[in-house]
Amino acid sequence: MTQDELKQAVARAAADHVASSTPAGSIIGVGTGSTANFFIDELAKIKNRIAATVASSEATRKRLEGHGIKVLDLNEVSRMPVYVDGADEITARLEMVKGGGGALTREKIVAAVADKFICVCDQSKLVDTLGKFPLPIEVIPMASAYVARELEKLGGQPKLRDGFVTDNGNLIIDVQGLAIAKPAEFETTLNQIVGVVTNGLFARRGADLLLLATPDGVRTLTN
Ligand code: A5P
Repeated sequence: MTQDELKQAVARAAADHVASSTPAGSIIGVGTGSTANFFIDELAKIKNRIAATVASSEATRKRLEGHGIKVLDLNEVSRMPVYVDGADEITARLEMVKGGGGALTREKIVAAVADKFICVCDQSKLVDTLGKFPLPIEVIPMASAYVARELEKLGGQPKLRDGFVTDNGNLIIDVQGLAIAKPAEFETTLNQIVGVVTNGLFARRGADLLLLATPDGVRTLTN
């Protein structure tokens, strides 16, 4: 199976899970990235069953609306049973690195509102230790050099993402060289650096369910 076929299989499994586990008329949180895009295409097939969605990026909003799926502002929504998104890395404890697509801040906000986070990945994303994938950090532009120096003190090699501006008008620093033994603690440490908007560790609020595509089928892992 190609990687795209694996992503499509896991996207279909996620749409089936949404259809069977959420009440009709629910509002669904939708992530960002190539796997999330496959999920959006599957969600379009059951769009009459859901009331609306909340998008974690402008790209996702456009794709949802392109399918005729209603997208709400998060401030209009007080209850969301489920959020579905991909990850750049995930452990068996369902801690993740996210933000390869630069949408980490909105992803973390939408995930915070959802009752349940379903992560959809192909098997290449499952790791023992987070950090091989450069950890994305969204920063306020005027703080980027200061934040980079602080990240070096923590043992990382920060690199400003070239020519990239987030949906929130900020910059992304990608940090290489980290082996993150304690993701939840490190997430908190990074949040203390002034100028950091959001870091790409999703450990304090990790996923609740991982649907993992393998050539032998979609595996389900829970915490
Ligand atoms: C977007 O900012 C990311 O958090 C994505 O969830 C992550 O990069 C996974 O994307 P793919 O599904 O394209 O690998």
